[in-house]
Amino acid sequence: MPKVLIVYFSHGGNTRKMAEALAASIEQGGCEVSLKKVAEANLEDLRRADGVLLGAPCYFGSMANPMKTFIDESIPLFGKGELVGKAAGAFASTGGIGGGGELTILSMLHGLLIHGMVVQGLRKGGHFGPLAIGEPDQRVMDECAAYGAQFAELVNKLAV
Ligand SMILES: Cc1cc2nc3c(=O)[nH]c(=O)nc-3n(C[C@H](O)[C@H](O)[C@H](O)COP(=O)(O)O)c2cc1C
Repeated sequence: MPKVLIVYFSHGGNTRKMAEALAASIEQGGCEVSLKKVAEANLEDLRRADGVLLGAPCYFGSMANPMKTFIDESIPLFGKGELVGKAAGAFASTGGIGGGGELTILSMLHGLLIHGMVVQGLRKGGHFGPLAIGEPDQRVMDECAAYGAQFAELVNKLAV
């Protein structure tokens, strides 16, 4: 069974709720999910995963610093291209509309793309990845379910 790693940072619980909804949907899609707080995740987790999702709140228009540090510390995997061709994606939580939510998702995608990972946009809903404004409501939960199903399909294809 393909392995998916979801790494998130969440101080107030909004991003965590999204991570949990994504995990449930990806498991339903036939993948084994490891759900980790960013402080608990390490390079071995990234090496083992067939697909990786990163989630963080928007802080000052970009990802919260612990997630940036996690991405920066993944540099040892870059040299040998250890993440090349693996599925990847990102999700975020913000305080308000126009507060930088999409920028936050894109800031995480930059790191994943630089590793040579494969990112699939979502045609319906949040195009760049699930995004919540404040506490995730039913719309966000539905979007996490749809994104998770699509992500599981991608991981199943790429991990053959
Ligand atoms: C230091 C800090 C900076 C923030 N900066 C922004 C911001 O630039 N734009 C925004 O929309 N919300 C901002 N917020 C609000 C958070 O993104 C929002 O409350 C989010 O839902 C928190 O997610 P969490 O519950 O997973 O910690 C900020 C919050 C903090 C603590």
